[in-house]
Amino acid sequence: MKLTQQQLEHFDEEGWIFLENCFSPEEVAVLNEEGEKIYAEEREEVWRETSGAPRTAFAAHTYNEAFGILGRHPRLIEPLEQAFGEKVYMHQYKINAKAKFTGDVWQWHQDFGTWHRDDGMPEPRAMNIAVFLDEVFPFNGPLMLLPRSHKHGILDAAHDTSTTSYPLWTLDEDTVEKMVANGGLVAPTGKPGGVLMFHGNLVHGSAGNITPYPRKIVYLTLNAVSNHIRKPTRPEWIAHQDFTPIEACADDALLNFARQYATAAE
Ligand code: SIN
Ligand code: MN
Repeated sequence: MKLTQQQLEHFDEEGWIFLENCFSPEEVAVLNEEGEKIYAEEREEVWRETSGAPRTAFAAHTYNEAFGILGRHPRLIEPLEQAFGEKVYMHQYKINAKAKFTGDVWQWHQDFGTWHRDDGMPEPRAMNIAVFLDEVFPFNGPLMLLPRSHKHGILDAAHDTSTTSYPLWTLDEDTVEKMVANGGLVAPTGKPGGVLMFHGNLVHGSAGNITPYPRKIVYLTLNAVSNHIRKPTRPEWIAHQDFTPIEACADDALLNFARQYATAAE
């Protein structure tokens, strides 16, 4: 899947784009079923909120076939190859739960701030491309983005290890206020199967989810191969050290997997 010139210009200017209906209900259904199985497992890659609800499952592309296919999917890999002008590899892979009633906040942060400080990533030539597995509403903890904040480079941040179960380099209120005054705030919402791509320096965060609607999103963090990390400090399953360029699978690979999966369940 290639982005249009207009989409590329919007991305450069605003730091994000949202693409509706990239994955079909059949493709999303198999990811949802497999995602729930992963959250039910007791494994080190599955992190929980302080309540015990799942928060994120790392590296599912390495131990789950459906998420493995998604991690090589041309609808996700090609736009990033296009943005960076080179092959990409998987730096990080997360299925974020934002569970109904208990999903916790993600404080304001820039992704590249963490990748640079914790993983030794040289340049912001990596970014998240995210697939909505549930409908994202204005009220179930949508990802909030501060448009144009990616133009300010790495902002000062403090290492917050206590607000949630997940340590993060977070921004202070003054910085967030300045960025909002400059570019506003958006919270893209949409049906399952939508795809959100945002720059590694774009400031973002999300509120807690006190609704009965879960908000699962899969994040592929793809890094330009030449920008591979230099000083990893986190486990391999959080910040991967296999820099092999991803070869995209066929466009119908996930659909075929979903159909076989449905037949096997009959
Ligand atoms: C993230 O920024 O890595 C996750 C935010 C979210 O899923 O709300
Ligand atoms: Mn983030």
